[in-house]
Amino acid sequence: MNRLATSLGKLSLQSPITVASGTFDTGYFDLFEQNILGAYTTKTITMQPKAGNPPPRIFETEAGLLNTIGLQNPGLKGFLSEELPRLRDLLDIPLIVSFSGSSVAEFEAILETLEKEEGIAGYEINVSCPNVEKEGIAFGAEPDVVFALACALASKSSRELIFKLSPNVTDIAQIAIAATEGGASSLALINTLYGAAIDWKTGRFRTSNPVCGYSGTALKPVALALCHKVAQAVKTPILALGGIHTWQDALEFFYAGASAIALGTAFYSDPLAAVKLHQGLKDHLEEKELALSELIGKASLPLP
Ligand SMILES: Cc1cc2nc3c(=O)[nH]c(=O)nc-3n(C[C@H](O)[C@H](O)[C@H](O)COP(=O)(O)O)c2cc1C
Repeated sequence: MNRLATSLGKLSLQSPITVASGTFDTGYFDLFEQNILGAYTTKTITMQPKAGNPPPRIFETEAGLLNTIGLQNPGLKGFLSEELPRLRDLLDIPLIVSFSGSSVAEFEAILETLEKEEGIAGYEINVSCPNVEKEGIAFGAEPDVVFALACALASKSSRELIFKLSPNVTDIAQIAIAATEGGASSLALINTLYGAAIDWKTGRFRTSNPVCGYSGTALKPVALALCHKVAQAVKTPILALGGIHTWQDALEFFYAGASAIALGTAFYSDPLAAVKLHQGLKDHLEEKELALSELIGKASLPLP
């Protein structure tokens, strides 16, 4: 019996552990077997190639990581000609393609192109980018935009449609409801918080773009609270991420309502984090004679 088996919308996963977009190099598969993971998610791709921001674009803080990579990617064409064939050959686990656009039409055009390609199990829709039709306000910040985007994409694909939500919004539950009503079949949360660092000696920002994405350890309580909040608001399966390093961290997210989790910044300090998490979770569930599915959403209040 595989106690770690789970599902995420339309996907059956042999392991609840996945990788956070933009943080995992497939070279790590030289270090461990890919079946430790339930799925592999790509770096976000965009219609046009992006060179990304100039250095410095990473800065480590006391409790997390600041990054301003700037969605560096080869663009849709480059992905199709270089990346996708390589990933199709390499992967034995479901491939999830993360993509983003600057307008609803651009998201649709990317999806329509990817729909013609085999070997893709699902899409992760990164809505943390500016919407050119709405004065650059992030797509994921407005429920009506998220609803319209989800409707447009869901009507064009029967593959798993994961909406990746940003924590940088007033009420994430409203965004989760909008994505669900529009047709998202699962939700990934959270993307990075905003963060910045300044060198007090010189007064200079530590990174080329002052406002960065903040990830890692410091995110965990925020991500856990938002996972709980979203799980209370919708029945849509949740792929949780934000500061997860260990199997104990992962368990907290399952209790809060996540069906699967992703490791991101953890890989920077320990490329074997997924292996350790997998073993720890397996041992724990065996000891308790439980299947993971029995724990999901079962968090309870402390005893009086
Ligand atoms: C260097 C770096 C690059 C990232 N690139 C992307 C990206 O391309 N698309 C995306 O949706 N999220 C991206 N993220 C956010 C992660 O996927 C994840 O949501 C976030 O880091 C929180 O998880 P963590 O604390 O486990 O890292 C990136 C994060 C980091 C640290």
